[in-house]
Amino acid sequence: MAELRLEELSASNIVAANALSLKPGQEQFITPVSYSAAAAVNDPATTWQRVVTDGDDVVGFVMGSFDANAEHEEFTSILWRINVDADDQGRGIGTFAVQALADEARARGKARLFVIWEQGELGPEAFFVRSGFKPIGETQYGETIGALDL
Ligand SMILES: CC(C)(COP(=O)(O)OP(=O)(O)OC[C@H]1O[C@@H](n2cnc3c(N)ncnc32)[C@H](O)[C@@H]1OP(=O)(O)O)[C@@H](O)C(=O)NCCC(=O)NCCS
Repeated sequence: MAELRLEELSASNIVAANALSLKPGQEQFITPVSYSAAAAVNDPATTWQRVVTDGDDVVGFVMGSFDANAEHEEFTSILWRINVDADDQGRGIGTFAVQALADEARARGKARLFVIWEQGELGPEAFFVRSGFKPIGETQYGETIGALDL
């Protein structure tokens, strides 16, 4: 593997980021309901979006949100979306992306990074737990809220 790098989401890489593929059955986990409800608009001032590159290839995407005025605490420092191309999953790219977002949250003075996931056989729970997120509660829709101490 070449060295993994982060690039800001931009006109030059957004097509590749949108073309990242998923494994069968993963689609339903990509945007838990709570996120869609909270995010009618993604504010560029509070949104942190990066693609992960491996050499010339875009292999992943990660998005965080840091909205100090969010109604619920978890939305003040949250992993909003992460996905790694189907063919590149299991190579540590997701871990790299989570660590990058955790570094960003730390740099913004946050004590915790939150994430919300839906449970399910093909869902990301094992990945988030492996990444250090601990389940701390549930949303009104029954999704799990996880927190990573920074
Ligand atoms: C979740 C996701 C980002 C993980 O990315 P990844 O690059 O495959 O993860 P990594 O290679 O860094 O894996 C880190 C650890 O988590 C484990 N892991 C990852 N996915 C797993 C799964 N589905 N089940 C069990 N363990 C899993 C790995 O085995 C690894 O453990 P190890 O360190 O003991 O070897 C990727 O599977 C994905 O894009 N899924 C579809 C989109 C999605 O569900 N996103 C989350 C909601 S927004």
